[in-house]
Amino acid sequence: MFAGFAGIWTPLLPLRAVGTAPRAVALAGERLVVFRPQRGQVAVLLDRCPHRGAALSLGRVTAQGLLECPFHGWQFDGHGRNCHVPLNPEAKLSRLSAQALAVRVLGDLVWVYTDPTRPDPPPPQLPEALHAAGLARTYLERNWRCHWTRAMENMLDSPHLPFVHRRSIGKALARQMSPQSRMEVSWEATPWGGRTRAVVDGRDNGAFLEFYRPNVMALHIPVPGRHLRIHALVIPAEAGRTRLIICQSRDFARARWMNPLFSWMNSRIAGEDRAVVESLGSDEVPPAADQASVATDRATLQFRKYYFESLRDSSVQRGEAGACAPAQYSSTS
Ligand code: FES
Ligand SMILES: [Fe+2]
Repeated sequence: MFAGFAGIWTPLLPLRAVGTAPRAVALAGERLVVFRPQRGQVAVLLDRCPHRGAALSLGRVTAQGLLECPFHGWQFDGHGRNCHVPLNPEAKLSRLSAQALAVRVLGDLVWVYTDPTRPDPPPPQLPEALHAAGLARTYLERNWRCHWTRAMENMLDSPHLPFVHRRSIGKALARQMSPQSRMEVSWEATPWGGRTRAVVDGRDNGAFLEFYRPNVMALHIPVPGRHLRIHALVIPAEAGRTRLIICQSRDFARARWMNPLFSWMNSRIAGEDRAVVESLGSDEVPPAADQASVATDRATLQFRKYYFESLRDSSVQRGEAGACAPAQYSSTS
């Protein structure tokens, strides 16, 4: 379960994407159902009824905030606990639970922990700008046909800017470059992952990227006296399919009507990346020794090292239905 992506906190959805009806979401090969047990709360269960395996996401949320299976009407709360089995008054409800995941709502995002046997994992580490007060945040969701590691590497890769983005965010660099130019890529390990800068011909423009293990990138864009960041949340959905959430945070132009403008810019940049990344193949990044690399690949090779050494072989043993401890579900306040 969650092969290659187990035992970690990951963003799942923008909170605004969770409505009153249950929603199916794929995560690392598993089908999940997201629903609101009560106003201000979000819960995530495996999207598989413990009875006959029906997709709970095809059911409904009752007036009591219980998720009702579409097949025989079993009802589950946000912890996965079975609260009702119709027509079977003697049923032992405590043995008939669904499996829940630990959930946090941080800022405007729903986060889940990819191990249903860990109901109370340590809190996630995430960029502060994803949940800090006083910032405007714009969200964009995209689906790419690639393995998530390809998209994640792309987000940490600076030397593609003057090529893939030569008409947008890489335009200045494309003009500045000469055939003799040199890019120095630094990598500094941090408690949550790493920080990388790319300096061309000794000119440091102050921009840098931060990597939050395993699948979040924060780009710090230097604007004097202002906060401006772009975050890429790279979420494995199923084989060869990646869900991307681009979140831009800023402390200026905060009016809602500005969001479409920022979304348009982020959409254009993501579209430029997509064409190239999808051409790399739908499988995972290969071991470093299998490809030619150069000095400017420093940050992406750090990601590859982390992936192969710490994450790739992870998976959760599937438990018996009802055997897992109930998970917490989160208040949005
Ligand atoms: S399959 Fe869900 S109640 Fe029967
Ligand atoms: Fe890019």
